[in-house]
Amino acid sequence: MDLNYRRLGTQDVAAWRALMLEGTRDFPLGFLQSAAEVQALSGERCREILGYGALRGVFRQDALLGLCGYRPQMFARMAHRVELGPFYVTRKAQGTGVADRMMAGAIAEARSEGRSLVELYVDAENHRAIAFYQRHGFRLLARLPDCVRIDGGARVDLFYRLDLSPRDGA
Ligand SMILES: CC(C)(COP(=O)(O)OP(=O)(O)OC[C@H]1O[C@@H](n2cnc3c(N)ncnc32)[C@H](O)[C@@H]1OP(=O)(O)O)[C@@H](O)C(=O)NCCC(=O)NCCS
Repeated sequence: MDLNYRRLGTQDVAAWRALMLEGTRDFPLGFLQSAAEVQALSGERCREILGYGALRGVFRQDALLGLCGYRPQMFARMAHRVELGPFYVTRKAQGTGVADRMMAGAIAEARSEGRSLVELYVDAENHRAIAFYQRHGFRLLARLPDCVRIDGGARVDLFYRLDLSPRDGA
């Protein structure tokens, strides 16, 4: 389906910001940042964020259709773990395989770096995202009350993990 997964860089600022504005406005449960916080980011701050190298995207030709945070743990004792998030596909591309391509890209990247655990947090009422992660093999490890507050209301986050370790006999 000619979808490309790659690291986002400072050249992607405009497309990344547009997708973040759309996502935080339309799917507030899917993000830690509020739409107002994204709106308030200066161009310089956006370039700084993209410069960290911790964001990935899925493109069809030149169009950015999905974005994903990819953050390996920094300390040697935790270097087997990588955390994903945010994880967002533009509304018109949801249900079309773009999210699958993005997850496959992140998992392939984790494997290529020798990481064995891929982890993420998801709001307990984000049923579509939960179904998606479970289909990709993520397993629920913990339920975390009051992790996030949206407009003052406490939310429950779920901590999910995908184990990439080779299985006996696999
Ligand atoms: C989460 C997200 C990336 C998944 O991508 P997607 O293209 O929508 O995912 P898919 O359509 O491939 O899979 C979604 C699954 O949820 C199911 N689903 C759809 N609506 C649902 C609902 N209301 N309740 C439960 N399951 C639902 C679909 O049938 C599908 O199930 P299947 O895999 O068994 O067919 C995308 O929906 C998105 O960007 N959401 C907004 C941002 C967000 O919430 N991100 C997650 C942050 S943790």
